[in-house]
Amino acid sequence: MTRHLLRDDDLTSAEQAEILALAAAMKEDPFGLVDGGVGKPLAGPHTVAMIFDKATLRTQTSFSAGIAELGGNPLLVDGALAGIGRRESVADVARVLGRQVSAIVWRTFHQSDLEQMAELSGVPVVNALTDDFHPCQLLADLLTVAEHKGELAGLTATFLGDGACNVGNSWLLAGALAGMHIRMSSPEGYLPAEEIFARAKEIAATTGGSVTAVADPVAAVAEADVVITDTWVSMGKEDEAAARRAVFAPYAITGELLSLAASDAVVLHCLPAYRGFEITAEVIDGPQSVVWDEAENRRHVQKAVLAWLHERRGW
Ligand code: NVA
Repeated sequence: MTRHLLRDDDLTSAEQAEILALAAAMKEDPFGLVDGGVGKPLAGPHTVAMIFDKATLRTQTSFSAGIAELGGNPLLVDGALAGIGRRESVADVARVLGRQVSAIVWRTFHQSDLEQMAELSGVPVVNALTDDFHPCQLLADLLTVAEHKGELAGLTATFLGDGACNVGNSWLLAGALAGMHIRMSSPEGYLPAEEIFARAKEIAATTGGSVTAVADPVAAVAEADVVITDTWVSMGKEDEAAARRAVFAPYAITGELLSLAASDAVVLHCLPAYRGFEITAEVIDGPQSVVWDEAENRRHVQKAVLAWLHERRGW
């Protein structure tokens, strides 16, 4: 059966660890040149379509470079020209693309559209960000944390700010899969949905991790090993910018707040960052920030995801 990565918990805990290990190996040998190593699993070349219905920098470049490093052919499909769901239905696009390419990477709005693409295309589909989840970002985040802190299981990670956004939701699921203790610190109305919390709790019960909501940012960050934030105004929420900036202000990662975390805590931000809002320049440009490693690691984990899915394709 063709496998996909539509949300973080499409992977088991063991599969997540396997992909992170493969990503680390690919980082060591980016062009697949070492004998008996990772090789070029997309040699042929297999074409991977990358479709963007929202803005992108890291995702487009890291997938393009990564697919080329795997020996494949990265094909950029302009979301505005394709008009998926407007000019043509998702179902028809899925059936057509599935006849042309070996995998589909799609950044779009609705998770349900991505699910339909996966159901009907017949090729592996990778979520490159939807309104609900950003699983590629989370694999990059986990690889980065593992590089800096070693074992993931047992670490405490605090997410501050818009917990209901894609990155917040994904941290709950992927952090729980990794056996981490995840604290979500968000103002009222901005926590992940109850069903995502429930699912993360169910996963954490099997991995030794935990998930909790801690509204007070000071309590949430105390002794944390990892401190994470994301923009307060995700793509598509621009009309709410002023209201969001007011309600999220106490959740900004400042030097003062960070001083309450473990002294060797690392700070993550998926970028783009808005200095002076969700994070101060002092923190993101400071010694505890690992955001540039995090951005680089997008390429390595996405290569691992594509190679892993390609190996399991149903044809
Ligand atoms: N939550 C952000 C992530 C950007 C990579 C957004 O959806 O805009």
